Amino acid sequence: MGKHGTPDDTGSDGAVSESTAGESSAETSSPTAPAATGPDADLSALDGAGAENAKVTAVVDVTDVDPRLADPEVVAEAVAPQRDINTQVGGALLEVRGLTVQFGGLKALDDVTFDIKRGEIFGLIGPNGAGKTTCFNAITGVYSPSAGSVTFDNKPLGRVKRHEITRRGIARTFQNVRLFGEMTALENVVVGTDARHKTSVFGAALRSRRHYREERDAVDRGMALLEFVGIGARAAEQAKNLAYGDQRRLEIARALATEPKLLCLDEPAAGFNPSEKTALMGLIQKIRDDGYTVLLIEHDMRLVMGVTERIVVLEFGRKIAEGTPSEVRENPAVINAYLGVPDDEIA
Ligand SMILES: Nc1ncnc2c1ncn2[C@@H]1O[C@H](COP(=O)(O)OP(=O)(O)O)[C@@H](O)[C@H]1O
Ligand SMILES: [Mg+2]
Repeated sequence: MGKHGTPDDTGSDGAVSESTAGESSAETSSPTAPAATGPDADLSALDGAGAENAKVTAVVDVTDVDPRLADPEVVAEAVAPQRDINTQVGGALLEVRGLTVQFGGLKALDDVTFDIKRGEIFGLIGPNGAGKTTCFNAITGVYSPSAGSVTFDNKPLGRVKRHEITRRGIARTFQNVRLFGEMTALENVVVGTDARHKTSVFGAALRSRRHYREERDAVDRGMALLEFVGIGARAAEQAKNLAYGDQRRLEIARALATEPKLLCLDEPAAGFNPSEKTALMGLIQKIRDDGYTVLLIEHDMRLVMGVTERIVVLEFGRKIAEGTPSEVRENPAVINAYLGVPDDEIA
């Protein structure tokens, strides 16, 4: 896609229609992402100039909330996934077999097969329109594939509903930022935590003891998550007032709040300048080092080369290459696929 998003992005993300609080608020996206965010008018302040325009309110000292959060190792420990995963580290956590998604006459995804191993950062790349987001959407239950299968942590995903997919351990961020603009950063993350809870943080009419405990845990973990992604000081700020880059980080924190077995990031660096991209790569590596498995979708090859262990390249819905970053970089089919794409997107 273009540096700041193109209408192609809308075809896939824009088709999302259902909403669950744990996953997203504004379910429709706009062709001019990241500046616009569809129907979520609260997010009108979301653009590259957000940092300058942002109304600075309370700055939170995370150590006031919990003194232990001064120690990055404690933060990393609090953020690390605690849940049981059947797949051993290095084993196939996600198995995609012959996945095909058809829109009318167009095969947006055509017989695509790959594995994501537990503990790795896996890159799914390809030029704009290659089918990356469609692949994501088929994996995460937004689209029903017309053929193929997806197995996650040794269980078939089949036609599992989206909230069930979150519960099973796949979390994602969207190509276009989707946050609850009026809620604070912390609240946005607690909503993500909620997806894993037995009682609903915001919906519970009967405030059981268990509910209180979970809510407190969610707040503690939420603060740790915000600190982990680098925006702890902004915890009390409304999401719409955060700088664009901080909103992207908040989305990642919210996805991590569900303690996913697999974290899927759809072009998380969209709209970033080179130094922000470098910083984001650092964060993605930190997330992996903390025990997560990451699927990273990118059209910017350089970003993916620097951070992934293995890469699958899509073009026109088909897998054209698979391998390590250096193998993929040398692959004539990949070079060909990226011919004509502006240098700043390949580099
Ligand atoms: N909901 C949809 N309806 C029809 N066509 C779609 C839809 N979503 C995506 N497409 C088409 O499928 C192809 C792949 O799109 P997408 O997966 O968004 O590519 P990428 O994320 O790699 O840029 C494109 O030609 C796009 O226009
Ligand atoms: Mg896409």
